[in-house]
Amino acid sequence: MTPQTIVFALVSFFHDLFTAIWMGGLLVTVLAYLPAVKNALGAGPQVKKVMMEFQKRQSVWVYVSMAGLILTGLLMTNRSPQFESLFRFGNPYSVALSIKHILVIAMIGVSLYRVLGRSTMTPEKERLNMKLLLINAALAVLVLLTSGFTAALARPLGV
Ligand code: HEM
Repeated sequence: MTPQTIVFALVSFFHDLFTAIWMGGLLVTVLAYLPAVKNALGAGPQVKKVMMEFQKRQSVWVYVSMAGLILTGLLMTNRSPQFESLFRFGNPYSVALSIKHILVIAMIGVSLYRVLGRSTMTPEKERLNMKLLLINAALAVLVLLTSGFTAALARPLGV
């Protein structure tokens, strides 16, 4: 195995690991963790306390994953012969990658707004925070969809 192959395997590994931490964390929170906490603790202040503690810990890993995904993503981007430059739409690969980047930027914006806005929690802000969590979970699914197309279009099939 060539050193390049090992390096690319490790870069892909970290790209997938950071994906599991951030995207997986978001989807598990919405699909299972939050409903379970609400079901177990009822609608009292306990839920808010548990979610604030969870978000405090998860936000550290989300920051690490944001930086890691951008770094490993840029390294992987250069590998494809289809790559033009960032935010170009000249071929199907560039279209998939650019749509993905726009979705990722939206996700980073929503995540930072949720984390930075958590200090002054009013009932309105709590409802907005929940809506933003659901929006980011939906964006996560779209990022994974565009990632599948990016990976598939990175190299023509059969090459
Ligand atoms: C929320 C952020 C991101 C997530 C969740 C994500 C997720 C993924 C996933 C799951 C794959 C498929 C990997 C595989 O085939 O094993 C992938 C591929 C890829 N990602 Fe990302 N990614 C993110 C951000 C980025 C960024 C910021 C870039 C570029 C700057 C990028 C560039 C790429 C490229 C080029 C591929 C295709 C690699 C190849 O197969 O040649 N990604 N991404």
